[in-house]
This record gives sequence, structure tokens and C-alpha cells, in this order.
Amino acid sequence: MPSQKIIIALDGFAACGKSTLAKSLAKKLNYIYVDTGAMYRAVTLYFLQEKISLEDEQAIAQALDNIRIDFRHRAGANHCFLNGEDVEEEIRKMHVSKWVSPVAAISAVRRFLVKQQQAMGRFKGLVMDGRDIGTVVFPEAELKLFMTASYEVRSQRRLAELQAKGLSASLAEVRENLMERDQIDSSREDSPLRKADDAITIDNSELSMNEQLDLALDLAQKAIEKK
Ligand code: DC
Repeated sequence: MPSQKIIIALDGFAACGKSTLAKSLAKKLNYIYVDTGAMYRAVTLYFLQEKISLEDEQAIAQALDNIRIDFRHRAGANHCFLNGEDVEEEIRKMHVSKWVSPVAAISAVRRFLVKQQQAMGRFKGLVMDGRDIGTVVFPEAELKLFMTASYEVRSQRRLAELQAKGLSASLAEVRENLMERDQIDSSREDSPLRKADDAITIDNSELSMNEQLDLALDLAQKAIEKK
């Protein structure tokens, strides 16, 4: 790959395989991978632990001052740390999934995290996945991908992921959570989930992981050459 570094923004609905693709893409390009959903999940976990009311603006502002999120490599994987503690497993659990969309709709939370996300991109060479990366965090990203897949495929995949980690949930519960999150994420006032006008849609319902990666690598190569 040429040495010019770009920013790749990967947005889309819940459980579309964004992070799986983003991770593989980053590895192939030797780029940094940032899972912004994990950051919203970590804030949600903190609010749950500290029993912060989502209506209490002052308590939220104070809580944000006490939150430090970073990513560290553990056994070949990227783990999310909240105030120095590895919360990678905890933030994937259903109780966090149930609250994360209402938390992500709070403007103070978004301002707090978007600032950190933009700082992570200052040297480029980054694949970032989320809901507003191509529209708000990096509107100038050289490559924007928007991922989607059918609810059937997404619920099955998410359930399999949870089960592989030994976490319990039913297919109906997972499906309902995905639909509810998409609804809240797409209809919130601040930075709703939407496809950027210049994003390329990838519907991966029928694509294997290798097919998605080949497609994304090809697009990345073209965007790098264009730079
Ligand atoms: O990617 P994920 O499913 O782990 O994200 C969890 C939630 O965080 C998602 O339902 C909406 C929110 N989110 C967001 O609002 N903006 C982002 N850039 C990333 C995630």
C-alpha cells in the first residue's frame, strides 16, 4: 500500500458487522482502528454504575469530567478501558445495550466523545466506525462507507457473538434491541444516524467477510491513490 494515509469512516445500523470489517481493514492497511460505539457504551456503563439520571444535566456534566476512556491491546484484541479498568466484556452486555441509545442522544455526551474522536484522527491512518463518523466527526474523510444488512442476518450474527462470549440473550431480545436502537439512533435530534451523501453503501446480508474486505480494500486503495 502507498504511504499516503487517509481517514476511513464506517457508519451504519446496529450489528451490521461494522467493527469486524473495520478491524480487518485497519489490520490490512496498518491503520489504527477506533470503535466509537465502545466509547458510548463505556459512558453508559459509568452512568449505570453511578446511577446518573439521564434527566439531570448537572450530574451528567460532572460525571463526564470523571470519565477517561482509552483503548489498549490485550491478547491481540483492542480492549476498551474506563478509568483504567478493562470494560470490554461488560460494555457488550444487554443491560448496557438497552441504555446506550438514550445516552448517545444526549448532546453533552456527544460533544465530549466527538472531541476525543477528532483528536484521534489528527495523524490520519485511521478506520473509525460508528453512526456519525462520515457526517459529523470526519465530514472530510477520504473514504466513507455505510453498512447495512437485513434484521434477520444482523440478529443472528449478534446472538452468535454474545453466545460465543458466554453471554445470554434470546434471538427475540436481540432483534428487539437492534430495532429499538436503530429507531432512536436515526431519529435523535443531535447527529442522527444517516448516510453521508458521499458515502458508499455496502449491504453485507449476502457477502462473506472476505468479499466485504476485498471490496473495502479496493475502495480504500482507490481513495489513497486519489490523495
Ligand atoms: O456500534 P455499537 O452498536 O456498539 O454502538 C452502540 C450505540 O452507541 C449505538 O446504538 C448508538 C451509539 N453510537 C452513536 O450514537 N454514535 C457513534 N458514533 C457510535 C455509537
